[in-house]
Amino acid sequence: MSDVYRTVVVTGATSGIGKAIVLALRQRGFTVYAVGRNEDVLKELSETSGAIPIKADVRDTQRIAEALNGIEVDILINNAGILSTRASFHEIDPDEIDAMVDVNLKAPMRLTRAVVPGMVERRRGHLIFIGSIAGRAAFPNSSAYGASKAGLSLFCDNLRLDLLGTSVRVSEIVPGRVETSLYRTSIPDGQANAVLYDGYRSIQPENIARVVENIIDLPIFVDVSRVEVYPTDQAAGGGTMVKFQQ
Ligand SMILES: NC(=O)c1ccc[n+]([C@@H]2O[C@H](COP(=O)([O-])OP(=O)(O)OC[C@H]3O[C@@H](n4cnc5c(N)ncnc54)[C@H](OP(=O)(O)O)[C@@H]3O)[C@@H](O)[C@H]2O)c1
Repeated sequence: MSDVYRTVVVTGATSGIGKAIVLALRQRGFTVYAVGRNEDVLKELSETSGAIPIKADVRDTQRIAEALNGIEVDILINNAGILSTRASFHEIDPDEIDAMVDVNLKAPMRLTRAVVPGMVERRRGHLIFIGSIAGRAAFPNSSAYGASKAGLSLFCDNLRLDLLGTSVRVSEIVPGRVETSLYRTSIPDGQANAVLYDGYRSIQPENIARVVENIIDLPIFVDVSRVEVYPTDQAAGGGTMVKFQQ
């Protein structure tokens, strides 16, 4: 448990990084509200870890805010995200643009808007965002996802300015490849393991949970504003060139 913070809200708590964060923070004695859609996993999480479930789509900010009414949220971890498609921009279903911007960018902004006034009033709070290296560098077939994450990243920078002097911290964690279910919709037929994970040493969700614990634990006059976490075997950059074809 931290000396300063007690109560944490984690979105996307039913899988991957979010679930690992819930388990790690519950072990530390935090009161954790786990926001997710999957009722069975929420129930299991609550039974095994004591996390308090909030069943909601992350886009339904009003419902989440109502569930948190009267609760002093110290830490909000905006983790829920989707990579609903992985294809060239000129080939994606236009609805995928809305889906990724709504879940990855608008929902965290709106949920932050719901909890941050209380943090400012109490002069106590930590807003943590799970971004992506796809929001910091260009990757093929990631235009809409990358734009949503880049928007989130700049939102964090702007928020830090608006919150100066309030003692509320804003941290963006920017992971490279983590072994989770994120690609289940964008790489069909259960091929995600074969394409992305088999034979690669990817980050594990627990590693990101450890980063979260570490940045929470620092003295509150220290804000890890952004931390990029790559697998040792992954790097971004370089130019891509193709041969001209008539
Ligand atoms: N895995 C990576 O390589 C990687 C790299 C960089 C950044 N990230 C980011 O890490 C975050 C966590 O993803 P993950 O890798 O742990 O993937 P994951 O295993 O697929 O977990 C994503 C979580 O978000 C939830 N979610 C998605 N849409 C939602 C909605 N509309 N309402 C409520 N919950 C919703 C999912 O719940 P459901 O099961 O109900 O859909 C799930 O619990 C995301 O923001 C992702 O962009 C991941």
